[in-house]
Amino acid sequence: MTLIDGKAVSAAVKERIRKEIEEKNLEIGLAVVIVGNDQASRVYVNNKKKACEICGIKSYEYALPEETTEYQLLKLIDDLNNDSRVNGILVQLPLPGHINEKEVIGYISPEKDVDAFNAVNVGKIMIGNYSFLPCTPAGVMELIHSTGTEISGKECVVIGRSNIVGKPMAMLLLHENATVTICHSKTANLKEVCARADILVSAVGRAGFVTADMVKAGAVVIDVGMNRNAEGKLCGDVDFENVKDKCSFITPVPGGVGPMTIAMLMENTLRAKKLQSL
Ligand code: GUN
Repeated sequence: MTLIDGKAVSAAVKERIRKEIEEKNLEIGLAVVIVGNDQASRVYVNNKKKACEICGIKSYEYALPEETTEYQLLKLIDDLNNDSRVNGILVQLPLPGHINEKEVIGYISPEKDVDAFNAVNVGKIMIGNYSFLPCTPAGVMELIHSTGTEISGKECVVIGRSNIVGKPMAMLLLHENATVTICHSKTANLKEVCARADILVSAVGRAGFVTADMVKAGAVVIDVGMNRNAEGKLCGDVDFENVKDKCSFITPVPGGVGPMTIAMLMENTLRAKKLQSL
C-alpha cells in the first residue's frame, strides 16, 4: 500500500499558482463569508485564508453573527458581486437553519462562484464546459492522477450523493471515461457494489463506514470523510487500519483530500481573475 500525500500534492499546486500570480503581477481578491459559530467551519475558513496568503491572493473575511438574516446576507453578496476588488466569493457552508442555502448560493454571481455551487456552474460541469472546477472532486482527481492510475474504462464507485461531493465527483470520473456507480443510503448490496470498485471514493461522513470487506484487493481508496471517532480524533470514513493492507493506494485523514480542496479553491480564484479580465 502507498499513502497518497495530499499535503505534498496540494503544496505543489499552490506553489504553481503563487508563481503564476507573482510572474504576471496579478491583484486577486477572495471574499470569505462565514455566518455563526460552527467550530469546523472556523477551522476551514482559517485554512482557506492561510492558503490565500501563501498564493499571494488577498482575502477579505466577513464573519457575521448567527442571528444574521437572509436579507442581510443577500445584501452583502450583492455588494461583493459588485466589488471589483473581489474576484471570488465563498460562503462557508453550512449556514444557520433560518437561512436558505440554495437562495444564497444562487445569488452569488456565476463569474465569482469559486466553489462552483451555483446552478449555472453545476450545469456547466454536467456538460463538461468548465468555468470552475468543483473543489473537492477536482482535488480527488488530482490525487488519483498523482498515483499514475488509469481511470478510463475502470469501475469507479462513489459512496454519497451530495451536491458538493458525490454528484460532481461522479461527473468528473465519467468525463475521464470511467464506469461510475453512485451509492447512497438506499443502495441494496452496498458491500458487493463497493467491492467491484477499482477506484472507491467515500463521502459519507461516518467514521469506520468503509470496512475491508467492501474493498477490492489492489483498489485505489479515496477518503473524503471528515469525522471524529469515539476518542474525538479526526478521522475519515474508511477503517484505515484494516483497509490499508488490502488496497494499492489510500488517502490519509487528515492530510489527504482536505488540503486538495483548498488548493483547488485557489486555482478557481486565479481562474476567476483570468475569466474576468478577458
Ligand atoms: N462546507 C463543506 N465543504 C465546503 C466547501 O467546499 N465549500 C464551502 N463553501 N463550504 C463547505
